[in-house]
Amino acid sequence: MNNTSAITSAQIALVKETWARVVPISEMAAKLFYDRLFETSPQLAPMFDGVDLEAQQQKLVKAIHMVVMSLERIETLIPTIQEMGRRHVDYGVEDSHYGQVGAALLWTLENGLGDDWSKDAETAWTNAYQLLADTMVEAAAQESSSAATSV
Ligand code: HEM
Repeated sequence: MNNTSAITSAQIALVKETWARVVPISEMAAKLFYDRLFETSPQLAPMFDGVDLEAQQQKLVKAIHMVVMSLERIETLIPTIQEMGRRHVDYGVEDSHYGQVGAALLWTLENGLGDDWSKDAETAWTNAYQLLADTMVEAAAQESSSAATSV
């Protein structure tokens, strides 16, 4: 995995277009996302014990919004995404969890968008999510290896 997952400008346009349709229903979509995640990956639920899920839903939507809006100039956001990845190590998040979260996200988009969802939209979102997840996972790995060598 690397953080150069190819995303074309047509795919960026499609991600933006579909996201614009999610924004008005983002509160419902975020709730749907966590319900789906905890249903398909119940082992992840304890990580959110004590977390204000409503606030968390807003944070997730804000983070996705920030990335979607900056997809054409993603390099400007890399340091912010890397920091987010490093913080996730402290939450107990492991590499394999990103696939589970990605699957729940794609499912939510598909169900939230209905007829506005398409195979092309799925590919575009898969690439966009991969870019985000790969950048977070790589930063997390560097964090863990530098922590190990500094002991
Ligand atoms: C690309 C994927 C992801 C995005 C955009 C994302 C976004 C966020 C954001 C914005 C926060 C708020 C705190 C912060 O910024 O550090 C957060 C917290 C958190 N995320 Fe993620 N996340 C992602 C992947 C994951 C994965 C794979 C898991 C695994 C279950 C996870 C679990 C958590 C947990 C447990 C918190 C902590 C809540 C707390 O203690 O307040 N996230 N995430």
